[in-house]
Amino acid sequence: MNRHDTQLALRSRIVGLREAGLSTRAISRAIAYKVSKVTYIFLSGKQFEMTDPRLLEFENLTRELVESMALLAIPDIFPWIMYILPGALTGRIFHLDLQKKIRHKFLIYFNKEIEEHRATLDRDDPRDLIDGYLIMMEKKADDPDNTFSVKDLAILVLDLFLAGSETTADTLTWMFYYLATYPEVQQKMQAEINEVLPKGTLATLDNKLRMPYTEAVIHETLRKSSLAATGLQHVATRDTQLGGYFIPKGTIITGAQETVHHDPQYWDRPDEFLPERWLDLQGKFTAKKEGFLPFGVGKRSCLGEALARMELFIFSTTVFQSLIFSQPPGKKIDLRYDPKAFVTHNPKIQDVLITVRPGF
Ligand code: HEM
Repeated sequence: MNRHDTQLALRSRIVGLREAGLSTRAISRAIAYKVSKVTYIFLSGKQFEMTDPRLLEFENLTRELVESMALLAIPDIFPWIMYILPGALTGRIFHLDLQKKIRHKFLIYFNKEIEEHRATLDRDDPRDLIDGYLIMMEKKADDPDNTFSVKDLAILVLDLFLAGSETTADTLTWMFYYLATYPEVQQKMQAEINEVLPKGTLATLDNKLRMPYTEAVIHETLRKSSLAATGLQHVATRDTQLGGYFIPKGTIITGAQETVHHDPQYWDRPDEFLPERWLDLQGKFTAKKEGFLPFGVGKRSCLGEALARMELFIFSTTVFQSLIFSQPPGKKIDLRYDPKAFVTHNPKIQDVLITVRPGF
């Protein structure tokens, strides 16, 4: 399937679902399919058709796993809970058996994929991440400190698949909500898309420089939604002095991205969705850095940032090129975070009205 077919498939999927009475679970799923598909191509070189039942299974398993893990933030922050409560109880409260079962299902599939890669490996022409890892594993075979193994590779593929799929799909869903709520922003973005991408032309990354408003909308969506509200937890590997505080070795450190993203010290009118804050007086995009940490910071910041940024640009231009997102008649989009997700700021499932832009 080439990119144009992909765009049509995505578009018809969304429009078709809308005609059947659409909630955003359906939109999120349509987007999540596409994002999972991209992540999987990068990991395994494999192109799934949109109709492939495995894609649906992956999507359902990912969602189920992510939802079942929401409460794990509690023992992450208060690890002693796991020592004082009986194992059977913590297992039930935190859905540990379900998570094990889902992980196992994924690993069966990924192990099969790895075996297929091993059987067809060309050491001079690696096709994807799995091939690259297998080649390194062979090179390191005699190294006593070697940590490469097939088991580790399967878990790596699982980690990347999980880290890369829902995050990007949820960020796009936030963008749909913001632009449905602020039609004037959507119209400006669509005017820019019209100007740079004549009908029938799909965006490439080269177009980014000529699309400052779209870039501004993407950045403002990342800031305002603050999907990974606290990032991942880290640990101080040595005694550290930071900002006047002493942090002893072994301290668990949790970020506060959402707080920083709404701190008036960095942002004028932080609670408003204002893409214009990312543009200078000439309308040029300014990649403001201070106070903007949607992908974390430092050596252990998001490994998939570049891929996520590419996906956000290509998907958003593709969708808004031909579709209009609006609030359903008589209703308002709820822009509050879904409380079920606990530490990540997921968008709530709700109705959005989608219409095809005139001329498409
Ligand atoms: C809009 C989409 C995404 C957002 C907002 C996001 C955000 C984040 C954040 C905040 C962290 C924690 C960084 C820290 O603790 O300092 C993280 C880590 C990570 N992300 Fe992402 N991410 C996104 C997409 C992706 C994608 C597409 C992939 C890969 C395919 C990915 C792979 C990872 C991995 C592997 C880590 C752990 C890095 C490490 O521990 O060294 N992410 N991400």
